[in-house]
Amino acid sequence: MMMNRRTFLKTTGAAAMASALPISLVRVAFGEKKPAKDFSFAYISDAHIQQIEGNKFVRNWDMGLIRAVQEANLLTPRPDFFFFGGDLAQLGKTEELDHGLEIISQLRGKVHYVMGEHDYYLDLGKYWESKIGPLWYSFDHKGVHFIVLTSILTYDKWTHNTKWTTPMDRMLAMARLDNPEGSPFLVGEKQREWLKKDLERVDKSTPIVVCSHSPLQKIYKGWNFWTDDAESVQTLLKPFDKVTVIYGHVHQIQYNQVGNISFHAVMATAWPWPYPKSYTQEPNHLPKLTVPMNRADPFFERVATGWQFINLRTGNVDMHYQLPDNEDRGVIFNPKTGSPQDSKYQDVNRRIPPQNHF
Ligand SMILES: [Fe+2]
Ligand SMILES: [Fe+2]
Repeated sequence: MMMNRRTFLKTTGAAAMASALPISLVRVAFGEKKPAKDFSFAYISDAHIQQIEGNKFVRNWDMGLIRAVQEANLLTPRPDFFFFGGDLAQLGKTEELDHGLEIISQLRGKVHYVMGEHDYYLDLGKYWESKIGPLWYSFDHKGVHFIVLTSILTYDKWTHNTKWTTPMDRMLAMARLDNPEGSPFLVGEKQREWLKKDLERVDKSTPIVVCSHSPLQKIYKGWNFWTDDAESVQTLLKPFDKVTVIYGHVHQIQYNQVGNISFHAVMATAWPWPYPKSYTQEPNHLPKLTVPMNRADPFFERVATGWQFINLRTGNVDMHYQLPDNEDRGVIFNPKTGSPQDSKYQDVNRRIPPQNHF
């Protein structure tokens, strides 16, 4: 289902102001047969609120989140709820989390939170848990089963390594993109056990939406676009008819299909990352992305921002993007190939050559 973004905004003035904001509106539709069950939710991710000192914070990151919140409040029809997809803070400080939460508190509606690595590795989630709630949980909404995972955990021997003289050492090691001292992300055994139990009570025909911070697939280890136990999590999701994983962390548009699972990344409010070199070097990533990415200029910030609409009419996800240079671009699930297909750039000859200036 195609939607004009303006139909979601109360005034054209607001639409002009918000022409390229990094927010994703996710519309879940069950089709004509059950229109009363249709609903939408909005997704904001990767704000990276960063303290300079005292009550001074990096203004650009503040503004990205503030504008996303403002636009989300203008949505009409109103979303049933909101998601924040992780990396609220840059270095996990209580000041950063508090400041970010204060901005998000302006959202008019319930917010569900996903934990990012930038939120976690200073105090291992203690402040987050006390202020926001559990790190993993599930809920049902109008026939869809939502699961929130903390996918950015890692091996105990790294987390509790004595080489970290302070918790901030550990945080800084994990906060880097090309983190030579970092460690691959994990959902971990304890959480997978919980997930297994949670899924036991869900009918196999129920649409499942999993929200994680890192991709529950292995894209590029060098930048930790990677979850080490992704296959084990995918195995738990395998028996279900329709599964969608929505994730942040990568600060760029990505979509992929692994077995029965459709993967879609959401964009960041803070900054875009370029596509990793691995996308043009097949041996470096696993699995091979079924839909090669296309972006004209990875450093043009607005190309990493825009809108995504998710249509679950058939239980498979159709994504509709509203991007500055790619008007009405769609990534629609193709039952023949069993994967998402880019309406504009699927044909190799139409793709813009990969960038190499990173
Ligand atoms: Fe991030
Ligand atoms: Fe992240």
